[in-house]
Amino acid sequence: MNYLPLIALSELPENSGKSVRQGQKSIALFHYDGVVTALGSSCQHMGGDLGQGNVQKLDDGELYVVCPWHGWQYNLKTGLAPAGYLDRQAVYGVQVLDGMIFISEEPLIPGFRSVHEDDPLADLRNLEYKVTPSSLNVLGISTTNMNRDLPRPSTSESALEAALDFAATGFGASVRMIRLRDLEFRHCEGYYSRHEQACTWPCSISEMDPDDGMNEIYRAMVLWADAVILATPIRWGNACSLYYKMAERLNTVQNQITVNDRVLIRNKVASFIVTGGQDNVQGVVGQLNSFFTDLGFTFPPFNFVGWSRGWIAEDTEHNYERFNRSRYVKRSIRELVTNTMNLVIQVKQIDVSRLQTPKPKISEAGTLSQPEDNP
Ligand code: FES
Repeated sequence: MNYLPLIALSELPENSGKSVRQGQKSIALFHYDGVVTALGSSCQHMGGDLGQGNVQKLDDGELYVVCPWHGWQYNLKTGLAPAGYLDRQAVYGVQVLDGMIFISEEPLIPGFRSVHEDDPLADLRNLEYKVTPSSLNVLGISTTNMNRDLPRPSTSESALEAALDFAATGFGASVRMIRLRDLEFRHCEGYYSRHEQACTWPCSISEMDPDDGMNEIYRAMVLWADAVILATPIRWGNACSLYYKMAERLNTVQNQITVNDRVLIRNKVASFIVTGGQDNVQGVVGQLNSFFTDLGFTFPPFNFVGWSRGWIAEDTEHNYERFNRSRYVKRSIRELVTNTMNLVIQVKQIDVSRLQTPKPKISEAGTLSQPEDNP
């Protein structure tokens, strides 16, 4: 096997690692315990640069590099993932001669990505949609938070329950309610901010933790629903914090458009219920509309029911009762559902096999070295 010169040993001090290009290849070099080792730099998972990873000793006493994108680990010498995993990073031969690091022209041990037979995310990965030409699946998402052991009345949630009831009885829809407070799910951990390809579908967190509660939202919203009705209270002029926690985790859906020009949400309708003791229904609905249109949803005319009693109405002990007695609320919920269902029926007829997505794409973005194209 030929060995080719790569870099001087002085460029790789003890206790460091870095990736270096050799022709078309990128090699991750490590210098630990007085030994230089070399792995293929592109992680078997999604291509994270191992040369930028931290190195740590695991329980088996061996040194492993931790991929900076999602934490996969590889033994610095053998390329193997820790016990229990079959994945392996390509291992190159290393010779140090006259202060120069030489690398074998080809890997001595090839890389290997194991195939997991019982992939718990296969339905999401393969986009196994549950909608059919005739389905009328309505997903209610209640974002309000409360103590499960000490529940309180919620205007937004009771309106959502009434909306789902009417969708079922008035339109024969299959309905499902998800209360975000019942799901244990992690905050978005910002993998996109490290690299656009590090924010994956299914979500990087789902891959690490198939029991993460957001998987229920992904399955229900992306694969099952024809319509989503989301209900939120107003908190300090905005939607409630659980909504934002969910929205940040939906970056995995929107990012597929940006990075891969792939639209996961098609032929789906969204409408909203926004209730607050005080004000800013329109501001909250504006935010919801902006985000849901970025995901690919379509809106019926007049796609929200709003309730607020104004700036000086701190009448919280009577608010729920007033809400429940309101003829406006009862009528507008039925009308919201009617508009939503009518649009669902029409939208399902539209061929969106190739949706136009006038959104920024990575392929069109400028870089520091290559400025954006101007018309
Ligand atoms: S790309 Fe390396 S762990 Fe995901």
